[in-house]
Amino acid sequence: MRRCRSRAYTDAMASVRVTLGFLLGVGVLAGCEHDHGSGGAATNAVCPPTPTLTYENFGKGFMQTYCLRCHSQTVTSSARKGAPSDHNFDTFADIKPLADHIDGYAGSGPGATNTRMPPDTPKPSVEERAKLSEWLACSAI
Ligand code: HEC
Repeated sequence: MRRCRSRAYTDAMASVRVTLGFLLGVGVLAGCEHDHGSGGAATNAVCPPTPTLTYENFGKGFMQTYCLRCHSQTVTSSARKGAPSDHNFDTFADIKPLADHIDGYAGSGPGATNTRMPPDTPKPSVEERAKLSEWLACSAI
């Protein structure tokens, strides 16, 4: 769930005199090879010692209710409403490698509540977003 933020990067942001080239250089040094920019902050959600949320009892239903109307392989062209074609959440196998992205766009935890997704209604409550992040923090079991 770690985001690409180093102290050097933060300091650089504070300075109005830094060049774009410098920012890009620091970004590379900080290892931001998969930074999609404005996906939101790390929620810092943690997996409890005894995880209770699973794909079957939580993740599947959450995705069906809030995400699959755009992010599904069965939804094509304009019906996706712009959802990127490489972000589908139809199965557990689809979700797992995208856990970090999902957390940054829709999750909630001590570090942040990210509400960029879904862009329409119905939207999950903050409690549901917190469950999403907890489930993802447990490596989406
Ligand atoms: C109404 C359609 C719609 C729904 C519903 C929706 N999304 Fe999206 N999603 C989009 C669009 C459009 C984009 C690209 C624009 C953006 O990033 O804001 C996007 C982008 C994303 C991205 C970033 C993709 C990337 O390239 O980095 C993630 C992650 C994501 N959505 C997760 C979710 C999750 C999780 C849900 C459910 C809680 C959800 N979305 C519900 C339309 C939707």
